[in-house]
Amino acid sequence: MSDSFGVDPLPGLNCSALQKTAQVVEQVQLARDTYRIRLECPEIAQQITPGQFFMIRPTTGCDPLLGRPFALYDTYVDGNGEPAGVDFGYVVIGKLTTLMTGWRPGEEVEIWGPLGNGFPLAPAGHLMMIAGGIGQTPFLAVARESLGLRTYGSPARQVAQPLSKVSLCYGVRSSDYLAGLADFEMNGLDVQIATDDGSAGHRGFVTELLLQAVENGDAPDNIFCCGPEPMMHAVAEIAAHHEISCWLSLETPMACGFGACFSCVTKVKLDDGNWDYRRTCVEGPVFRAECLQLS
Ligand SMILES: Cc1cc2nc3c(=O)[nH]c(=O)nc-3n(C[C@H](O)[C@H](O)[C@H](O)COP(=O)(O)OP(=O)(O)OC[C@H]3O[C@@H](n4cnc5c(N)ncnc54)[C@H](O)[C@@H]3O)c2cc1C
Ligand code: FES
Repeated sequence: MSDSFGVDPLPGLNCSALQKTAQVVEQVQLARDTYRIRLECPEIAQQITPGQFFMIRPTTGCDPLLGRPFALYDTYVDGNGEPAGVDFGYVVIGKLTTLMTGWRPGEEVEIWGPLGNGFPLAPAGHLMMIAGGIGQTPFLAVARESLGLRTYGSPARQVAQPLSKVSLCYGVRSSDYLAGLADFEMNGLDVQIATDDGSAGHRGFVTELLLQAVENGDAPDNIFCCGPEPMMHAVAEIAAHHEISCWLSLETPMACGFGACFSCVTKVKLDDGNWDYRRTCVEGPVFRAECLQLS
């Protein structure tokens, strides 16, 4: 028996994830305190889809002992067009992310994935991706897939028909935190920026860009959102009020990443109206907004 989260409600582990030692290919700074690392790991790159994530830890030492979750930014391909590895973006906040800033090409790290459900293939209509801070990382691959510029997964999944519009609303504290904007320059993607201090784009919250779109008669049909919980809460409320389908990607702290420890549970509403808990690492990190109780 499975519920609308598509899984057996009895605890099961994600046994399809691969654990690999991968080499750092490059590390580049994207913005203030924000970097992108490229890892060579063809097996994971061939399978992963937008919105899925992987766990990363150093191969040596025990501080930190546990891996940390990072979303797929994009895959990169080899000379034959085959996926050869993954890129992820990170912002420096603590132990591992500080350590990562010292990782250089040739360094070996441990990676396990792909993990989690990821975003669904974008349904027809206008897709608006709404990102807060480092929450923009899953949306490069979503944008490329939605516009038919790249495929992901094995077998490769593809949007059934071109979307009528794909937009990204991206909010950060100030312009120096805007990460990877050049990567998001692609035909067909409408990018709108919001900064708290007005140093770039709209001065104010990224949610105000959504409200403006609604007021201008350009409301999206579907929203994919990732960022701080209060921002996702606000997006979910606006979406519910205007009857817009909305999916949220949670960044709940995790210990194992594959369903064993239950450190990542989040409260979800079941089909029968009752509330229960689901593991963000297996049944998420992407949930329909109406199923979640955010703070
Ligand atoms: C599915 C998923 C995808 C993610 N993708 C990305 C990504 O692409 N890029 C990125 O930069 N980050 C991402 N994160 C968050 C990332 O995992 C954390 O930033 C990372 O674990 C921090 O590790 P650290 O060792 O540097 O910090 P720690 O030393 O573990 O923690 C430092 C401080 O940050 C707090 N903290 C740690 N993790 C989180 C969190 N998830 N939310 C809020 N506070 C936290 C701790 O409580 C502590 O106060 C993702 C998280 C999840 C669950
Ligand atoms: S992180 Fe261990 S069950 Fe999710």
